[in-house]
Amino acid sequence: MENRKVSIPDLHAMKAKGEKIVMHTAYNHWQAQMAEEAGADTILVGDSVGMVEHGFSSTVPVTMEMMLLHCSAVVRGAKRPFIIGDMPFLSYEVSPEEAVRNAGRLIKEAGVDAVKLEGGRSRRDTISAIVRAGIPVVGHVGLTPQSATQLGGFKVQGKDRERARQVLEDAVSVQEAGACMVVLECIPTPLARLITERLSIPTIGIGAGPFCDGQVLVFHDLLGIFNSFKPKFVKRYLNGRETLVEALSRYTQEVRSQTFPEDQHGFSMDASDLEGL
Ligand code: KIV
Repeated sequence: MENRKVSIPDLHAMKAKGEKIVMHTAYNHWQAQMAEEAGADTILVGDSVGMVEHGFSSTVPVTMEMMLLHCSAVVRGAKRPFIIGDMPFLSYEVSPEEAVRNAGRLIKEAGVDAVKLEGGRSRRDTISAIVRAGIPVVGHVGLTPQSATQLGGFKVQGKDRERARQVLEDAVSVQEAGACMVVLECIPTPLARLITERLSIPTIGIGAGPFCDGQVLVFHDLLGIFNSFKPKFVKRYLNGRETLVEALSRYTQEVRSQTFPEDQHGFSMDASDLEGL
């Protein structure tokens, strides 16, 4: 793909050609720059920010103000990837009108290319209203972390026939409502494969096996930085926490042992200019 911004037709063309779509998450300027350098097609500013950057135990406390701040930093950091801003809990559930207003803020104030919201059949009208307002929407079905308590915790969804049918219907609803893409989180591989074959919009999997049109992993998970827990579907490509703590410890030790800073890290001046001060 050329160096211009990735568009929705580009992502749909990738599905048609069987080219995998790579989605990264990023929450600030430098993470977005690194995701772009690593070749991301699309970047999600997930509400996972609440857990990986703010230390909350779930995504529920995340606010619109937090998302606006993180999304705008990411938009300044990455030019080519298609950037998606997550709608936080209670920013789209109260009414479709309020959902349109909040989605509009992420587009107008933060500059993202699309918004993402959780839920299937129950969010049909909300997704339609946002799309009718001219704002691209990415759906999210399967395990929907904002309602994890109702789902019985962070666990695999759609494992029996009836629940699998519900996840499939959720995905179809999201597409019929006008979403341009859908995240499938934590569902069995064969179900994700079937949904991917049934839908014309791209599916992006996380804990949904290899047959989705694309994949997403949280930045802190894939770099081994987040260590509160490690879901089964996470692959760590770096022992990031250990590597970073090791560098920080070296700095700590060098300050204590007075081996940092060295001459090369300081600035000189003529001794005569200090005389008489
Ligand atoms: O918030 C997030 O990072 C997400 C991904 C896990 C899909 O929604």
